[in-house]
Amino acid sequence: MSEPAPLLNVQIDGVWHQFPKGTRVIEACARAGKFVPRYCYHPKLSSPGNCRMCLIEMGMPKMGPDRKPELGSDGKPVINWIPRPQISCAQDIAEGMGVKTDSPLVQECRHGVMEFLLINHPLDCPICDQAGECELQEFSVQYGNGGSRFREEKVKKPKHVVLGPRVTLDDERCILCSRCIRFMKEIAKDDVLGFASRGSHTYLTAHPGRVLDSNYSLNTVDICPVGALTSTDFRFKMRVWFLKETKSICTSCATGCNTIVGSRQNVIYRQTPRENDDVNSAWMCDYGRLNFHFVNSKDRLNEPQIRSGSTLENVNWNTAFGRAVEELKRYQPDEIAVIGSGRMTNEELWLTKKLIDGLKVTHYDIVPRTGEADDLLLNTDRNPNTNGAKLLGVSSDEPGVKLRRIIDGVSSGQIKAVIALHEDLTQAGLSAPSLEQLGALIVVGILPNETTKRATILLPGVSFAEKRGTMINAKGRLQRLNRAIQSPGNAHEDWEILRDLVQQLTGENGVYLIEDVFKQMAENVPQFEGLSISKVGDLGVRLLGVAEAAPA
Ligand code: SF4
Ligand code: FES
Repeated sequence: MSEPAPLLNVQIDGVWHQFPKGTRVIEACARAGKFVPRYCYHPKLSSPGNCRMCLIEMGMPKMGPDRKPELGSDGKPVINWIPRPQISCAQDIAEGMGVKTDSPLVQECRHGVMEFLLINHPLDCPICDQAGECELQEFSVQYGNGGSRFREEKVKKPKHVVLGPRVTLDDERCILCSRCIRFMKEIAKDDVLGFASRGSHTYLTAHPGRVLDSNYSLNTVDICPVGALTSTDFRFKMRVWFLKETKSICTSCATGCNTIVGSRQNVIYRQTPRENDDVNSAWMCDYGRLNFHFVNSKDRLNEPQIRSGSTLENVNWNTAFGRAVEELKRYQPDEIAVIGSGRMTNEELWLTKKLIDGLKVTHYDIVPRTGEADDLLLNTDRNPNTNGAKLLGVSSDEPGVKLRRIIDGVSSGQIKAVIALHEDLTQAGLSAPSLEQLGALIVVGILPNETTKRATILLPGVSFAEKRGTMINAKGRLQRLNRAIQSPGNAHEDWEILRDLVQQLTGENGVYLIEDVFKQMAENVPQFEGLSISKVGDLGVRLLGVAEAAPA
């Protein structure tokens, strides 16, 4: 292990603090509770120091004739203040450094920078999609002087520029901070954006012949401090101050990027990344971010149904469970298969394994789901919880191996009943005619598909945004999903559906809280020992004894 960095003494607004060597001055100020406004600075990017919003007064220890710092009556170094303001985002602290974050000179500098930045900025605030999370608006109120001496005509720049398939640019609002350019170059490794022209006519654009079509393009919208870059999917759909924000995780691949789900009145409007340096830094891919619209679908399954001839009829949950048990009892264990999903939570997989054990079935697996990976976040494994399925015994170490035997068994007629959990089996290799031959096809799902159409019993479950639970990502990190919205109609959380099925089949006493399901796991699965859902926390915990998946 490397040695911790030595601590340096820094005076901030008259109070001495200690910070590790290598700390940026702007970060040291923040840790001392003295926020310094900034536009171009972003802690995950390089610091060009071009906006000047972070100006402060700075000084270094006054040296005595013996070339040692002169000490004051308090025994601390006397500071020699530099007469000109300095930027705080592009330099590290030094021993004995002094900083003033709120002196009259600093306040005057901020007034000047704000006035300068607003010279050509359009008065779009009432119609700007960034309102509510615009740093130009916020810092104008906190650090501006409320007026402008600019009487000339503002420079006109391109508006509604389609920078790429998912990002729209309004150049008049851009304050030329270059965060978006640096993100694309330094993080997404796609040097596609740049500034063109000179002086007050400078504008942001994609390089000639290029479009901003990277799978990480929407991160530029997150870090743009003003309303210049907007998400084409989200813009003008909802004012941000109406959004309820729920901390959760992305379920579109095994990375499990930490997210904030923005919703209002049971509709999801956007997902944005939440910082977690052990998982996704401050970013997420566009594919995962936009993979939520199906939750808002008007076609969601919202009533339990049982087959009556060629149609499915709505019934209540008790009737549906009674019929499911009746159908399953007609078959021997080796005539039944359970096909789970790597999209299910650990709690659901735990109860799925109880169902498997209760029915004594030997045919069970999850459906593997893969895609192309990249070098940043997107994982080859598009299931978010393959590690959970393996750990809890619903899948072997090689998901899909047993599934192939199940497909053969269904096709040959040896398997006569299938329980399908959140998977369209026609996408997993089973043909529609072979599903029609089954004596029982019990399906838990959220949207109609070729499998639900052929179900004998259809049980409406919930989406990732409508439930709580935990998942284990590709690096063996246990993380929490949280409920952002309510599920539609009469749909039930999947862990409750599975619990009720287990209860009806085995007579085993039920559990009534998801916390108790986790408690059962913690008592039986060594990797969860000592944990609870609340102990998992917002940033998750690394599980000992869960192997990291091979690099994507
Ligand atoms: Fe900065 Fe936004 Fe302009 Fe990019 S578009 S340079 S992030 S203000
Ligand atoms: Fe320091 Fe922009 S934040 S110069």
